[in-house]
Amino acid sequence: MSNPKTNRLTPNSKPTPQTLGEFLIDNQSDFPFASGELTRLLNSIRLAAKVVNHNVNQAGLVDITGAAQNINVQGEEQMKLDVFADVTFINTLTNREIVCGIASEENEDFIAVAGSDGGHKQHYVVLIDPLDGSSNIDINAPVGTIFSIYRRTSPQGTPVKLEDFLQPGNMQVAAGYVLYGTSTIMVFTTGNGVNGFTLNPALGTYYRSHPDMRFPEKGNIYSVNEGKYATFPQGVKDYIKYCQKEEDDRPYTSRYIGALAADFHRSLIKGGIFLYPETSTAPTGKLRLLYECNPIAMIAEQAGGKASNGTQRIMEVKPTELHQRVPFFCGNAEMVDDVERCIAEASNT
Ligand code: AHG
Ligand code: MN
Ligand code: MN
Repeated sequence: MSNPKTNRLTPNSKPTPQTLGEFLIDNQSDFPFASGELTRLLNSIRLAAKVVNHNVNQAGLVDITGAAQNINVQGEEQMKLDVFADVTFINTLTNREIVCGIASEENEDFIAVAGSDGGHKQHYVVLIDPLDGSSNIDINAPVGTIFSIYRRTSPQGTPVKLEDFLQPGNMQVAAGYVLYGTSTIMVFTTGNGVNGFTLNPALGTYYRSHPDMRFPEKGNIYSVNEGKYATFPQGVKDYIKYCQKEEDDRPYTSRYIGALAADFHRSLIKGGIFLYPETSTAPTGKLRLLYECNPIAMIAEQAGGKASNGTQRIMEVKPTELHQRVPFFCGNAEMVDDVERCIAEASNT
């Protein structure tokens, strides 16, 4: 900013936003268990996300678009960036010896991390969707990373077990997502509210651009793949009709990117609901409880919103398998209440 009298640059009166590194150090004592281990883990996630961000931004320039010629454990075609992001997060977390286990949407089994001394000494397991919305890569549209962190339940010093990963979402100690959009933002919670940190790509530093994120009081955007409408259960069809009705504050408007991290981020900032119900062709839904729904649900609740499978709070669903899928309705509390009401009414008729 220049001073018209002196034509000199005057100091900007706005305080410089806190960096993610500063935030982690300043708030370490508020983190669950406060041993420094979770801080180091979040630090590693932000580092791996920078590497993935660099690659995402080169899509079209280097050979990373398109399919990797593999089918993943979900029976879905893997994109080259799916594989790159998966390897980047797993390597970053295992090399730093800060987790005792990792489960990824891209791999059939979880990985037990022994540490260089073979001691299995760490406390945390990470569950990750390394690249969310991968069909967007080839069209320069946003993609994300979604992560969920739990304290192990099996004894420290032994290899992690499946049970360490199959914990309900209300046991998460931290959760977050990185959205590689027009800018790159890391949004996370450790159970004390939600904060968003935007990456300055020139400096490689994340700044706290979105402090204490909360859903707006009211939402009016519904986000669903309406092309599948005919396959939706009656209650969800009724809710969509309700959204479209000319009444009071409605009709609502509709937006859909096809990447949960991006669609949820819009709902959080502007107010709205994201819906991915069970369908006649996918009777348990499409989204994965452990890698996608639980972490987004924790952020939603911490920001004053709600997340449901239509009848039950997502974070109370007891997982039975790593790659379990669930119907998912998440966003402004009032909107989630409305869809639950429509589902209940349809099941009573
Ligand atoms: P992923 O790329 O990790 O498999 O996730 C894609 C998911 C989710 O992000 C998105 O909301 C949904 O699939 C989109 O599915 P449709 O194409 O069926 O709408
Ligand atoms: Mn995903
Ligand atoms: Mn994915």
